[in-house]
Amino acid sequence: MKTIIFGGSFDPVHLGHLHMADIAASAYPEAEILFLPAFKAAHKTHDSGTTPEHRLAMLRLALEDSPFGIEEREIREARVGYTIDTLRGLRQERGWTERPGFLLGDDLLEGFPHWKQAPELAAEAELLVVRRIGPSAGPSGSSSPFPFIDLGNPCLPISSQEIRRGLREGGAVKYLLPPGVYRYILSRDLYGVQAAPADFVASRLSPPRFAHCRRVAGVARRLAGHFGFPGLEGAAYHAGLYHDLARELTGPELLRAAETYGLAPGPAERENPVFLHGPVGAEILRRRYPGLSGDILDAVANHTLGKGRSALEKIIYIADYIEPGREYHSPALDQWQDYRDLEEFFDFIRRDSHDRYDEKPVRKPAKGEEKPNL
Ligand SMILES: [Fe+2]
Ligand SMILES: [Fe+2]
Repeated sequence: MKTIIFGGSFDPVHLGHLHMADIAASAYPEAEILFLPAFKAAHKTHDSGTTPEHRLAMLRLALEDSPFGIEEREIREARVGYTIDTLRGLRQERGWTERPGFLLGDDLLEGFPHWKQAPELAAEAELLVVRRIGPSAGPSGSSSPFPFIDLGNPCLPISSQEIRRGLREGGAVKYLLPPGVYRYILSRDLYGVQAAPADFVASRLSPPRFAHCRRVAGVARRLAGHFGFPGLEGAAYHAGLYHDLARELTGPELLRAAETYGLAPGPAERENPVFLHGPVGAEILRRRYPGLSGDILDAVANHTLGKGRSALEKIIYIADYIEPGREYHSPALDQWQDYRDLEEFFDFIRRDSHDRYDEKPVRKPAKGEEKPNL
């Protein structure tokens, strides 16, 4: 057995699929394992509304650091494939001398006799059955008119159907998916996904940028407690997590978004569109999460220029500036615990920020113009 084919709709691919392939790989260490995504699964009736291209893209992300390959022919040729035809085509094309394996879950075993030319298929490939629905109903309990090999694995009962439902209903399914696949789903709004704001923000940022947001969140929470605003700790944490949501949009994207949202960018923003990432980020959040507190949105909108008047806005501005991962770190910033008064520390940070503005690689503001903390 040189090749094992793992067909499916992978809608979306999840850790259960990877686990199945891994079980086959440990049973047949010499074999090449190929995922075969269906253009449209012949024996499935659901329609998740997700295009074959999205399913393929997710599969590529899921497998990018795995030893498993992808046979893309059905999707490339945009045709509904029957496994028997695909396997025969592959045998001819690749000149297989050994009978391939065909990997399937025990949940499909019962319906297998109804697949197109099932007897020929069972002759063409050796059926390798992975348990997905538990030992009680597993292969030992299932009957099949065709011989198959029971890989006898412990169950990891994850199904794409459950995952689609969890995504739609905001259930806890994130860690049942490869991280890249989850990000892909969120960033393209697949499956009607309902994600918590923090997950949504994470999906729009590079890992280092989101790590910065997490640090800002932690510092902001501490600042709120330290300066006597224990009631703001939660809001400070969340505003910190979300503050840079739009930071990785390009200049033209920020300008376009600002215009779409009616934010009326001024001359300074036209010249340095990055100044817009606060207000644009806040507007994206406001539209997507109507229930989010206005105070948090204001803190996101105003974190760049330190123009905010509320304690929360000031806390986020400061936290963004002093979080420990910043490249620039004035030794004076470590003295925040010596300050007791938020206003006083805020003024100190504003002055420090203005003093160092000259080192920033953006246009210097004219006299009297606001200086940003990006
Ligand atoms: Fe930031
Ligand atoms: Fe920022």
